[in-house]
Amino acid sequence: MKLEKGIIKETFLDGSVRIECPHELIPAPGQYLLAHANASDAPLADPVFFSHSAPNGFVTAPPTPNSWMPGTILNLRGPLGHGFAIPVAARKIALIAFDDYPARLHGLIPLALNQNAEVVLLCDSQVNDLPEVVEVQPVKAMQDILLWADYAAVDVSRGKVNQLREKIMEQGHVRMRPEAQVLIRTQMPCGALAECGVCAVTIGHYWKMACKDGPVFGLNELL
Ligand code: FES
Repeated sequence: MKLEKGIIKETFLDGSVRIECPHELIPAPGQYLLAHANASDAPLADPVFFSHSAPNGFVTAPPTPNSWMPGTILNLRGPLGHGFAIPVAARKIALIAFDDYPARLHGLIPLALNQNAEVVLLCDSQVNDLPEVVEVQPVKAMQDILLWADYAAVDVSRGKVNQLREKIMEQGHVRMRPEAQVLIRTQMPCGALAECGVCAVTIGHYWKMACKDGPVFGLNELL
């Protein structure tokens, strides 16, 4: 984990930004950086997730603070947390944006294609700039796709974890895949530095901290 500076080089209409930063700071898909604009009076840092590669840095997933503009200097800490890990043997990969844009999952697409996997992206929002080989389906196809896939990566907000759990359990015969992983989005103001507990999630019968135990958890831990 490093503490360094980065600079915003570009902002996009969808709320993402392109950051230039030292290579070792670039988070893997599912990991995050805590970012605080230099001289900003914002009380808390913002978690920033990887979406796309970019020269000398990366493009974040949206949203980012409205006050971030090209030229804004960011104090960055990270990479933090546990990200996704696609099993090397996986050849049928499902990316499921359960309740949001799929930007946090986007970084998995080149990794999946590099290992010659088929990729199906489930989301209910419009997506652009996808490789043609990636099939897009609505989230309501999730149960069928979970039966097809040999690895699934899911992005869900903390408030929708129970809904995700119910949807999966509705289909009683769904195979439980230890390879399936879930990114739980929640506020992570301290990134484990102050042990504030704001990011607590219930995993099984235990409280875990999304900022350091996650934000990516095994699906089986949730069921
Ligand atoms: S963000 Fe403070 S403990 Fe997780």
